[in-house]
Amino acid sequence: MANKIAEMFDAELINIEAPKYEIGVTGLVNAAMSFQDHEVEITPQTIDFAKYNKIYLGSPIWFYRPSPSIWKFAENNRFDGKDVVFFNSYNSNYGQNYIDEFKSLVMKHDAKSFEHKAIIRGRMGSQLSTEEFLNEVTTLFAEN
Ligand SMILES: Cc1cc2nc3c(=O)[nH]c(=O)nc-3n(C[C@H](O)[C@H](O)[C@H](O)COP(=O)(O)O)c2cc1C
Repeated sequence: MANKIAEMFDAELINIEAPKYEIGVTGLVNAAMSFQDHEVEITPQTIDFAKYNKIYLGSPIWFYRPSPSIWKFAENNRFDGKDVVFFNSYNSNYGQNYIDEFKSLVMKHDAKSFEHKAIIRGRMGSQLSTEEFLNEVTTLFAEN
């Protein structure tokens, strides 16, 4: 999803790495055990957004809420005067209360605006194919 958005807007793409949640069994177990945490080691911890106008922040949805890494990243960073677009993919449901809480955090760090965009991919066995999913991304972000 992030790759597609970056390609659409000819934007710089920066991965937020969290060794604790690396793809694999350990990462999955850690995600299941500490999905409520906002405290996790991430790299990079901060980014100087001065040269950007718009920031797209992405995270999967874990147990109805954005994942720990993106909370930590938002807590660490300033979004002074920037338009922030928060995007997720998810397979069934997310809690609007958690999105609202995340918005409050971003706005508290002085973003100019906050928009939320999410795509439901469906549960295992009845998921959108990669091609269908990326087409949805293109449509959803066309007006940005
Ligand atoms: C630990 C964990 C918890 C999840 N919890 C939810 C959830 O509460 N609601 C939901 O719709 N999807 C949930 N998902 C599915 C992810 O949101 C889905 O995989 C999403 O598209 C992220 O893409 P990725 O798996 O490619 O990172 C969960 C996935 C994991 C690994």
